[in-house]
Amino acid sequence: MSNCADPVGVFDSGVGGISTLGEMRRVLPSETFIYYGDTANAPYGTKSTAEVIRCVRGVVAELQRESIKALVIACNTATGAAAATLRAELDIPVIGMEPALKPASEIRHGGSILVMATPLTLRQEKFNHLMSLYGEGAVKVPCEGLMELVEGERWEEAREYLRQLLTRFDPKKVDAAVLGCTHYVFLKDMLRELLPGHVQIMDGNAGTARQLKRVLAQRDILREDGGGEIIFRTSGDEKTVLPLMERMLERT
Ligand code: DGL
Repeated sequence: MSNCADPVGVFDSGVGGISTLGEMRRVLPSETFIYYGDTANAPYGTKSTAEVIRCVRGVVAELQRESIKALVIACNTATGAAAATLRAELDIPVIGMEPALKPASEIRHGGSILVMATPLTLRQEKFNHLMSLYGEGAVKVPCEGLMELVEGERWEEAREYLRQLLTRFDPKKVDAAVLGCTHYVFLKDMLRELLPGHVQIMDGNAGTARQLKRVLAQRDILREDGGGEIIFRTSGDEKTVLPLMERMLERT
């Protein structure tokens, strides 16, 4: 039985999911979060589904040693690859994320929707199902190599990457850009500067935080006072990654 004082486990292939963590801590300030960045196995987005499932099982085994009461997959790629497997294997709630194509389709007015995500996310059956429901006008924009620029805090190179990428589209005909990878949310302000004002930039972080709150309340394990701690873990080099994680949290 989970206790409401138990922590919520959150993970991503690296620091991207810290953008989701920032939103969750605003919505749920009394929860304690253990955030795990699987830096040693990053990136996930250029791996196969089977490889990502293997990595994710390793992460979950680590988080379960800390008696987590719920698991948030703060990674679109890992959700597509492994959420169904994890839900079948775990007896705690599993909250995942997907590119915000549905909300983007609701604000579309005849223009295109750029869905920026990892190559694996855009190949997955889960995403193609979403495309079949809400994909009118949507264009898949795989951004291989972009997460590495965020991990490396290489902001000027990221700006140049985005600038180049956007030359492929006529911005006047774009209604929305969907940030379908949690790493890209750290580039939102940059993208805002590069895109005309009418283009809506959407991500799934607020929806994920609300969903976590709903699920914890339904199960009666929502923490309403005390807590509020954030603990970082990584499979990478702790000396460099833990300070990076703190810096990324400050950006949220
Ligand atoms: N942050 C991850 C996502 O939301 C992917 C980054 C990676 O390629 O590992 O999809």
